[in-house]
Amino acid sequence: MGSISLNGSADAHLAVGQDLLGAMLDGGQPAMYLCMAGSCGRCRGRITAGAELLEPMTDAEDHHGCDGEQRLACQARLARDGRISIHQPA
Ligand code: FES
Repeated sequence: MGSISLNGSADAHLAVGQDLLGAMLDGGQPAMYLCMAGSCGRCRGRITAGAELLEPMTDAEDHHGCDGEQRLACQARLARDGRISIHQPA
């Protein structure tokens, strides 16, 4: 079982294969986003714990200059169980 915390919030459930943004919104966390499709870059955040638990970066994340620590929450998906912490600027 996985979980995700946004900016130090209580953890929300995050399933293997699920994108981080979807899990945060399902969990009632106030995640920033616009397109939900890897285009706008608004969901970009810094993974402060658990980056190694995520699937490899997508082409959209490469396009936005993500580096493995910076990820697009709507594109990054959990590859195996564990806890993710993400920081999104306000
Ligand atoms: S919400 Fe637009 S790139 Fe993720």
